[in-house]
Amino acid sequence: MSDAHVTGAPTTPRSALVTGGCGFVGSHLVDALVAAGHRVRVLDSLDPQAHEGGVARFRNDRADLVQGDLRDRDAVRRALDGVDVVFHQGAMVGNGQSMYEIERYIDVNAVGTAVLMEEVVARRDRVQRVVAASSMVVYGDGAYSCAQHGPVRPAPRDERDLAAHLWEPRCPRCAAFVSPVPTDEDKPLGATSPYAIGKLASETIVLVTGSSFGIETVALRYLNIYGRRQALSNPYTGVAAIFATQLRSGRRPTVFEDGGQQRDLVHVSDVVRANLLAMDAPDAAGAAINIGTGETLTIAGLARTLADELGVDLEPDITQRYRAGDVRHCFASTERAGRLLGFRAEANRAAELRDLAMWVADEQPVDRTEAANAELTALGLIR
Ligand code: UD1
Repeated sequence: MSDAHVTGAPTTPRSALVTGGCGFVGSHLVDALVAAGHRVRVLDSLDPQAHEGGVARFRNDRADLVQGDLRDRDAVRRALDGVDVVFHQGAMVGNGQSMYEIERYIDVNAVGTAVLMEEVVARRDRVQRVVAASSMVVYGDGAYSCAQHGPVRPAPRDERDLAAHLWEPRCPRCAAFVSPVPTDEDKPLGATSPYAIGKLASETIVLVTGSSFGIETVALRYLNIYGRRQALSNPYTGVAAIFATQLRSGRRPTVFEDGGQQRDLVHVSDVVRANLLAMDAPDAAGAAINIGTGETLTIAGLARTLADELGVDLEPDITQRYRAGDVRHCFASTERAGRLLGFRAEANRAAELRDLAMWVADEQPVDRTEAANAELTALGLIR
């Protein structure tokens, strides 16, 4: 499958700004917008952690590029000139790293969004809609149900349980282990890392500014995204890219906890489609909407599937160690996305994981995960 397999339904041509438009999701979105006939500008800082050597490998040359940081007001002003729809994808990504680079994560993800929205407010006669990338990290842990007490909201996992390798959260009423259920958008929010705090601030800034000034805004709460163009050399990227990189380097995937943690892996093509729908969907304005599949996969299962797809005989290394800030399970309720956007994930997970593995096999990623995990361990953030 080629990189250009994501295309959108034709709509009225727009002048779109994509922040982070050289990154993983942003670059796929730019390609889809260009293919659908929209005029596209990109604002991207080309942060070397995500872009090896500061090079924009996935830049679409039919889109204008303003290289600059979201916190650089002049760059944001230039990027917004003449724009009528904004897709805000630019952010630093990495729960683990954010635990010790607190200021940088809050600064880029929260303050960067603040600067962007101030400049959007100044152009509110022109900007019709802002579609912002939010994340399931704003929930903290997912939703749970107790066999005896029904839906419950467990406290963050107890250090003694984690030390005893008891990984499941407990019922706040009877202390029994609870079972995960789909997380819907009304679940109380609860960030568990500075990255999550920054994303929560970013989402809130976008929605609150929108409702205060009458600008249509939509926050898309992405579940765990995977696909071609994940930043393979970034040790803080998503788990699918990390495992594929480790396997490609002949190493067993490092699995935290017991590998039974469940995630909702959504393919980047579905995420792009959700953005295109959010650009126009009349009922979406003002809403936060999960973008996931509603289906789950365990992290150990993901490691095994990728090994199979890469044709390597490397069993996951189940470390029984805990990474600070990690939640146990989270998968989406997809009802609101269906109702407000007409969105339903369509990608075939097995085929797309195979596609990711094929892409990784052609890449030459520098595996920095060992060094990154050693750093987190030295800081007591993996224990
Ligand atoms: C991820 C994203 C976050 C996004 C959220 C929702 C990253 C870094 N994080 O958070 O931006 O907002 O999904 O879309 O992309 N794991 C291992 N070994 C590893 C790395 C991770 O076992 O080497 C485990 C983790 O402990 C965790 C799971 O895999 O249980 C997922 O980790 P990760 O990919 O970092 O994603 P989330 O923390 O779920």
